[in-house]
Amino acid sequence: MCGIVGYIGNNLSKKILLNGLTNLEYRGYDSAGISILSNGNIHTLKTKGRVKDLIDLSNLDKVDGYCGIAHTRWATHGEPSDINSHPHNNQNNTFSVVHNGIIENYSDLKNFLVSKNYKFISQTDTEVIPNLIDYYYKEGNDFLHSVYKACKHLKGSYAICVISSIFPDKIIVARKSSPLVLGKGINENFIGSDIPALLEYTKSFYFINDNEFAEVLKNNIIFYDENLSKIEKKCKEINIDFSQINKNGYDDYMLKEIYEQPKSIFRTLNNLNFENLNITKEYLKSLKKIYIIACGTAMHAGLVSKTLIENLCKINVEVDLASEFRYRNPIIDSNTLAIFISQSGETADTIAALELAKVSNAQTIAVTNVPESSITRIADKVLYTSAGPEIAVASTKAYTSQISLMSYFSLYLAKLLNSINDDLLKELETDLNNIPNKIKELFDNLDSQIKDIAKKIYLEKDIYYIGRGLDYYVALEGALKLKEISYIHAEAYASGELKHGTIALIENNTTVISIITNPLLVEKSISNIQEVISRGAKTIIITNQSLNKNEFNHIIKIPEINSYLSPILSIIPLQLLAYHIAKLKKLDVDKPRNLAKSVTVE
Ligand code: AGP
Repeated sequence: MCGIVGYIGNNLSKKILLNGLTNLEYRGYDSAGISILSNGNIHTLKTKGRVKDLIDLSNLDKVDGYCGIAHTRWATHGEPSDINSHPHNNQNNTFSVVHNGIIENYSDLKNFLVSKNYKFISQTDTEVIPNLIDYYYKEGNDFLHSVYKACKHLKGSYAICVISSIFPDKIIVARKSSPLVLGKGINENFIGSDIPALLEYTKSFYFINDNEFAEVLKNNIIFYDENLSKIEKKCKEINIDFSQINKNGYDDYMLKEIYEQPKSIFRTLNNLNFENLNITKEYLKSLKKIYIIACGTAMHAGLVSKTLIENLCKINVEVDLASEFRYRNPIIDSNTLAIFISQSGETADTIAALELAKVSNAQTIAVTNVPESSITRIADKVLYTSAGPEIAVASTKAYTSQISLMSYFSLYLAKLLNSINDDLLKELETDLNNIPNKIKELFDNLDSQIKDIAKKIYLEKDIYYIGRGLDYYVALEGALKLKEISYIHAEAYASGELKHGTIALIENNTTVISIITNPLLVEKSISNIQEVISRGAKTIIITNQSLNKNEFNHIIKIPEINSYLSPILSIIPLQLLAYHIAKLKKLDVDKPRNLAKSVTVE
């Protein structure tokens, strides 16, 4: 996690670094810091808290220079504190480092350095890096070789930027399993954890791979491979509109992103081309299994996709959490197709699972929202959701775009296989193309209705979500949304499973939210709701069916649609409900505690 920025050039660096940090703050926000070279010295200022706390530091006014690095942290080793904040410097203050990742062998390295009389002041894993660089520098190496030699001893993951008061004309960067991009300017160059952080300044980017290094100078960037041999890189032009990362008048990114869903789905569906995948009927027939692997919300999108592919194409699909898949010795061979869903394309567990699938000879497809993200460079084929940058930590528009993409993909496979009849195919295609309009229809009067419900339940301690089939998967996602931004304990259960244990938790006035969209399962679902009402539950129903209003406390009506596609509509009231509850609790909706947008550590 965490956000890294670096700058070297003809302009003063402080403003650029702080702007970059502000754009990256969604990646980590428990502390922030900056190191700037000026008058032959490294000036480091850092603090626990947000980027705005760093900006408020009184000494910050006194510091500026033409080369610097900055960091916004998501702590892995050592509590969030001023001392543990990055950048970390060696004891002589000649090298300063910002780091994203985890140094797994930091303890051994620390012991080694302590035996060489190095002193440590923080509890972080990162602090070994500047000291190890200093150790190799004192052995007679130049800046690049000192960083290179230090990196050879680091186990784990890192994206690092290093500046030095001894070598003020360059920044050295290195990466292994953590994201880092380089932006090219005129008489200036930039470093960032992601592209949007730098879009204000450049649209020209270089991408470095694992184990590569770069020497970033004002007028040049020199790239090196893992043996420190020079390599050439092509600069790529990135066409993301900077205005897409503004709040556009909304109070929060999350609200903006919820309301963007008609557009993000429309763009996703219209930008897709499956022909490049070169999938044939024969290939599909040869498949033993499709795996869909992802984390969090993206995994919930995978669960919905499983039902569609299995029901429409009759291919066996298994959905796995990336963090489990990578360590459970899954059965993979060349008759396996593995699909990896990731908004960011940088999630460490998903990348590791993708690498495992590749070495096991599976065909791999990445479904991601971020061009040039790590996942796109590893997978055999890539399908993009064109949702536009998603900044809020809680995923909303990426989720509905992922499901839209996977629904369209399932129809494409079904067509190749001739596995569904023409009427159903036509109905699903029409309904899918109509989704953006249906969402607009759903938005009419939804906000005030959800706000009213939120006012009644925002002080609750526990809320339960239930559903059957696809509605259960939406329940899982609805509960995750509420947990992550409102900190209310929320759990999702398959409606029919409640009676096997969880119903013991239902008391007088417990809130139960039930999603009911499949006409074939309505009666069964109503029976399960009656079971909780009998035990005193208050009920909120999300449905496209005609139900008896008097039986429930609230009914939120969503537009009718083929039930295979209903998750794209039924999640929207749940996203808004989580949002309004968090607002009533006066919480930071976009940056919930303990979380970060891009989970680049294991
Ligand atoms: C969603 O609201 C969460 N913030 C989280 O579960 C997220 O979906 C997960 O970390 C996966 O991220 P990715 O899609 O970028 O791989």
